[in-house]
Amino acid sequence: MYSNKFTESVEKELEFLKQAGKFKVERELEGAQGAEVEMNDSVVGGGSKKVLMFASNNYLGLANHPEIVRAARDSMDKYGFGLSSVRFISGTETIHKQLEKKLSEFLGTEDAILYSTNFMANLGFFATITNEPFGSTEPYMDVIYSDELNHASIIDAFKLCKKENVTKRIYPHGDVVLLEKMLEEDKSKNYRFKIIVTDGVFSMEGCLADIPRLKFLAEKHEAMLFVDDAHGVGVLGETGSGTPEHFGLKAQIDVLSGTFGKALGGAVGGYIAGRKEIVEILRQKSRTYLFSNSLPPSVVIASIRALDLLKEKPELLKQARENSKYFRNKVKELGLDVLQGEHPIVPVMLGDAKKTQDMSRALLRAGLYVVGLWFPVVPEGKARLRFQISAAHTKEQLDRAVEILAGLK
Ligand SMILES: Cc1ncc(COP(=O)(O)O)c(C=O)c1O
Repeated sequence: MYSNKFTESVEKELEFLKQAGKFKVERELEGAQGAEVEMNDSVVGGGSKKVLMFASNNYLGLANHPEIVRAARDSMDKYGFGLSSVRFISGTETIHKQLEKKLSEFLGTEDAILYSTNFMANLGFFATITNEPFGSTEPYMDVIYSDELNHASIIDAFKLCKKENVTKRIYPHGDVVLLEKMLEEDKSKNYRFKIIVTDGVFSMEGCLADIPRLKFLAEKHEAMLFVDDAHGVGVLGETGSGTPEHFGLKAQIDVLSGTFGKALGGAVGGYIAGRKEIVEILRQKSRTYLFSNSLPPSVVIASIRALDLLKEKPELLKQARENSKYFRNKVKELGLDVLQGEHPIVPVMLGDAKKTQDMSRALLRAGLYVVGLWFPVVPEGKARLRFQISAAHTKEQLDRAVEILAGLK
């Protein structure tokens, strides 16, 4: 039985979160994810109510696409539900290998390795590469250069890297000039590996990393470039393979991580893709891969189908792009401050945190679900509504969202 001291401490912290506006409320959906969802929430008046969904990463509308659902459902007749094993014991089916192969072809990499999530993939990569002496008994230091706005999983990955073996250098968001300065400063230091890590797409802004410049710097300084493309894969580039393809650099990035939990079906599953020796060492040594269950067959089969659908139905990508452009322009016409960009993440800048909180609640009450972001999630004074557009949105739904927004602005 734990002590009252523990209870009091936790309650104090929970109260602090509430006071600081950091307490997260989980809104309950009743039914499938989609352009419109049934929501059961006191804000919408209690009971179940249909609302427009502009707050999911369902960029291609695959989360409840009939072909994805069918693939997942059919898979269970042959493969059952779960595998009750990690990959290297009895948790590898031929379909896991097929998905890894298909994924690496799609991304243009030599190989790929599946993880339970993108979060686990990032933890696994950095811990393995930097903690592994690779047979040497010599002391060593690696250095990681990381954009300050990189995802929480990258920040947490650093915590698994041994301090005595890794120097972390955080550069201001997108500041490639300062990054270059850091790389120059470190030239004379005898680092074993240098790794530059960035999100491909920064999810608070929907803005893209300067991949061409980062690649140039990585090459110049013999560093490895790692791009976490969670919000880019299935969204950007001519074939949807992600941010590198958007910049004409498909197949030219050392290491990619990504997720099946957003555009590519929206369930779960992550990966690392890159050169075959990197993938192989992760298979041998990465603890978040080795000691965690393998992906369920339904997810694997549906993810294979998602990659096939991207090829078979290029109109999905086209629609996501057209919808994003249409919505951005319509919101701009309302006189609102919209961040420029090409990604389906469309932030509408309101500035004030209180205004944003009130507005997001009012929008939900009016039938439009969009997430409000304020300090400390985004810088102070830069509060915003973050709209996320999907190929599944119809023009009528986009217009309705704009109308609701116009009525409340
Ligand atoms: C950049 C980035 N990396 C990793 C993740 C984690 O992905 P997953 O949900 O597959 O763990 C996310 C999801 O929010 C993300 O945005």
